[in-house]
Amino acid sequence: MLQVKNVSKIYEGKVAYRALTDINLEVEKGEFVGVMGPSGSGKTTLLNLIATIDEPTTGTVSIEGNNPYQLSRNDLAKFRRRSLGFVFQDFNLLNTLTVKENIVLPLTLDGKRVKEMEEKAEAIAETLGISSIMNKRTYEISGGQAQRAAIARAMIHKPKLLLADEPTGNLDSKASKDVMEMLVTLNQQEKATMLLVTHDPQAASYCDRIIFIRDGKFYSEIHQGDNRKAFFQKIIDTLSFLGGDDHDFSSVRD
Ligand SMILES: Nc1ncnc2c1ncn2[C@@H]1O[C@H](COP(=O)(O)OP(=O)(O)OP(=O)(O)O)[C@@H](O)[C@H]1O
Ligand SMILES: [Mg+2]
Repeated sequence: MLQVKNVSKIYEGKVAYRALTDINLEVEKGEFVGVMGPSGSGKTTLLNLIATIDEPTTGTVSIEGNNPYQLSRNDLAKFRRRSLGFVFQDFNLLNTLTVKENIVLPLTLDGKRVKEMEEKAEAIAETLGISSIMNKRTYEISGGQAQRAAIARAMIHKPKLLLADEPTGNLDSKASKDVMEMLVTLNQQEKATMLLVTHDPQAASYCDRIIFIRDGKFYSEIHQGDNRKAFFQKIIDTLSFLGGDDHDFSSVRD
């Protein structure tokens, strides 16, 4: 459903910076793929190119057989709204709106009925444990709550492709596990395709497959198989070869 072919990205500026070099990635419908690599290795850049937020310098991105960069502005906006879900590293919630208003935003833009939107929002808030803060504004809530609100907003319209940048970065281990399990449920029940950027080997161990990048280049790829604990260990081992990050690699929690 997703093909990234020979993609490179150079950020132009006073000094041009090559953030990605010749990335190739093919993701099947319903796959749950993790992207890992040291800080500055190009993970967010890659996600932004797939999210159609930014254009590759060379190479192509194709989602369900379409090159989103060839769509008209209107079609691109519609495509983003209906088929893609994003969780950004910095949440991107609108702080003039309440949590509930933020969550229903993708549906509002699509002209869904208020009652239907509210029911969906309540249901998703319940799963994410944020029912009690739905009427608060985003500056009145904690980082972890904001993260959950951003996840609820990204999932409410059941996107075909969900792109998440560090969705568990601000959560404690219990909340992080809840969020990962929810993403897995969405992945399995709705056959949503997932692309998750994370530094956390624990969160990454929920993926079917992980690709590692270093200095903007593909480094290696590993598959979960049927043993999550063994996969977790493989993730840790690969990260230690990769270097660049110092995180505490605690043992697998289940
Ligand atoms: N808009 C930009 N203009 C110029 N350089 C940029 C821009 N965005 C990112 N970069 C550079 O590109 C490289 C990759 O950045 P990117 O944000 O993709 O890294 P990342 O892997 O997501 O890191 P992190 O784990 O810290 O979020 C970095 O060296 C960064 O400084
Ligand atoms: Mg990033």
